[in-house]
Amino acid sequence: MEDFTYYCPTKIIFGKGTENKVGKEISEKKILLHYGGGSIKKSGLYDKVIASLQNVGIEYVELSGVVPNPRISKVKEGIEICRKQGIAFILAVGGGSVIDSAKAIAAGVPYEGDVWDLFIKDIPIKNPLPVGVILTISAAGSEASPSSVITNETETRKLHIRSDLLRPKFAIMDPELTFTLPKFQTASGIADMMAHVCERYFTNTSSVDLTDKLCEATLRSIIRNAKLVTNNPNDYEVRANLMWASTLAHNGLLGTGREEDWASHMIEHEISAFYDVTHGAGLAVIVPAWMKYVYKQDLERFAQFAKEVWGIEAASKEEAALKGIEEMKIFFREIGLPTTLKEMELDNQKFGEMAKACTERGEVGNFVKLSPADIVKIYELARE
Ligand code: NZQ
Ligand code: ZN
Repeated sequence: MEDFTYYCPTKIIFGKGTENKVGKEISEKKILLHYGGGSIKKSGLYDKVIASLQNVGIEYVELSGVVPNPRISKVKEGIEICRKQGIAFILAVGGGSVIDSAKAIAAGVPYEGDVWDLFIKDIPIKNPLPVGVILTISAAGSEASPSSVITNETETRKLHIRSDLLRPKFAIMDPELTFTLPKFQTASGIADMMAHVCERYFTNTSSVDLTDKLCEATLRSIIRNAKLVTNNPNDYEVRANLMWASTLAHNGLLGTGREEDWASHMIEHEISAFYDVTHGAGLAVIVPAWMKYVYKQDLERFAQFAKEVWGIEAASKEEAALKGIEEMKIFFREIGLPTTLKEMELDNQKFGEMAKACTERGEVGNFVKLSPADIVKIYELARE
């Protein structure tokens, strides 16, 4: 096991009706209320949030319209508003996209230059505004993560910033808020959480038995509840288990003491950047293709994945490894996700260009270090 510092200060407020307490969690008197395209109005959540803020006399300025794969232009709008109006707190109500947009605004307000600099240069994040979250989708794990992933729409780039200072102050998580999710969004979220665990599970670090078992248990629980949620979208317990899994999959706990990989995410982010696809659906295509490309690096680990996560045993480790990967694809298909680029109907596939953009800062991944040529091969494996 490697040395590590684990710091995850986000206060989790989990359960039915917890969104009604949001006003009490905020000490600032004027905030930015940040949300997406309207699902929070349709579900009635917006009215509850406003009532809770008004109850404690918090003034709010609204900035809505965050889109999936959130844009830097919206971030810049938010920075302007916060500066002009002297706002010192951001409340993100939504999913990963809204939370990431809020974090980027938070980081950008005190930074004097162009906020995109923070994404392309190694500039440390200093004194970001505090961010609070009301989560409406179990997926990205941004509610407790240190990262923000933003798309620069004019440059066709999707890049991230990362700092423990960006971890939200609190995350309000009411599983009932996820009942209204369309089936495809629920499934994409499931693939994203599973990918977050896999990025940590496939490691060359030895003697990490405890976190191996935590990863396997988290994956098994996600799979079990994913199979139930399709026919029971309003089952509180099923939604609750998925919601907590989204946080645990990505708050850093499962990666403690291990070298993490993250190649699949880097490779998928280029698909999102070039084609504006749903992140989790992109991962359902890329993770199995990545696995097929790298499994020989550690047959033992892949056979363990097949056995402990999918219940597969086979005559040889290689056979088990391949069956485990295939089982994951079958599962993604069962929950309604694409598993090939062809199914995603991406025309004009620019594999070379995407691989080049992906490796702009050098090879990606740690389990196996990948060059642009490797990444092109992974896109090709993902094609059909
Ligand atoms: O905009 P609205 O109308 O709210 O609709 C959203 C959006 O269209 C809808 N939605 C959310 N909650 C809903 C709902 N619809 C009905 N009922 C609800 N309760 O779902 C759509 C997708 O929302 P989005 O926020 O994009 O989903 P997700 O949480 O999957 O976030 C994806 C983004 O997070 C990034 C991804 O790259 C992607 O941009 N990630 C962020 C990470 C982080 N910060 O740590 C890590 C992840 O690996 C990921 O990269
Ligand atoms: Zn992800």
